Amino acid sequence: MSGTSEILLVSGSLRSGSTNGALLNTAAALTLPGITTTSYRGLADLPHFNPDDDRPDAPLDPAVRELRAILAASDAVLFSTPEYAGGLPGSFKNLLDWTVGGGETYGMPVAWINTAGPAAPSGGADAEAELARVLGYTGAEIVAAACRRIPVAREAIGADGLIADPAIRDPLAEALRTLAAAVADGAAARHRVSASG
Ligand SMILES: Cc1cc2nc3c(=O)[nH]c(=O)nc-3n(C[C@H](O)[C@H](O)[C@H](O)COP(=O)(O)O)c2cc1C
Repeated sequence: MSGTSEILLVSGSLRSGSTNGALLNTAAALTLPGITTTSYRGLADLPHFNPDDDRPDAPLDPAVRELRAILAASDAVLFSTPEYAGGLPGSFKNLLDWTVGGGETYGMPVAWINTAGPAAPSGGADAEAELARVLGYTGAEIVAAACRRIPVAREAIGADGLIADPAIRDPLAEALRTLAAAVADGAAARHRVSASG
């Protein structure tokens, strides 16, 4: 156990000026003891998921290799995604489909931030429900206590692309700390199991 949790930050939005992207860039800029973060930037490069291209006897697309390597090097994942047409954005669901065969997120603590504003028709609830269902299929461990609804208005994003408002930064930091605590708990439990076995 190193005592530091490496959290991968994955946005479900490809939009430049994305509120979800800004939130996760803000998470990356927070300095929190015992937590390091990496921002995943390869969403647009992933090929359409096709099981034919995910076989041990075929070369894997480099973007998928990179995704799986970065997941394997992470202790946890924090997602932040918009809702499109009552569910997850297709490109983000495509990323999640690629994680099923890789298995890197199996048993991994994950959480999400819902940035939907008050005007959003479902408040992002449909995207959250779909994300929970898909992550269930990947075997990820959803850390419910780290999941948060933190509305982010476009005006909250500064010229530097980050969010300065403490009403957003504070619960975001708390979500990261809660996710890191789940990593530490899991590591401690694994340590206990291996020590007793
Ligand atoms: C094509 C499209 C469909 C959308 N569908 C929904 C929806 O079903 N429910 C919802 O709450 N918001 C919906 N929205 C609003 C987005 O979720 C919202 O604008 C979000 O802030 C975009 O995230 P971003 O700033 O990270 O790009 C939709 C937006 C677009 C462009």
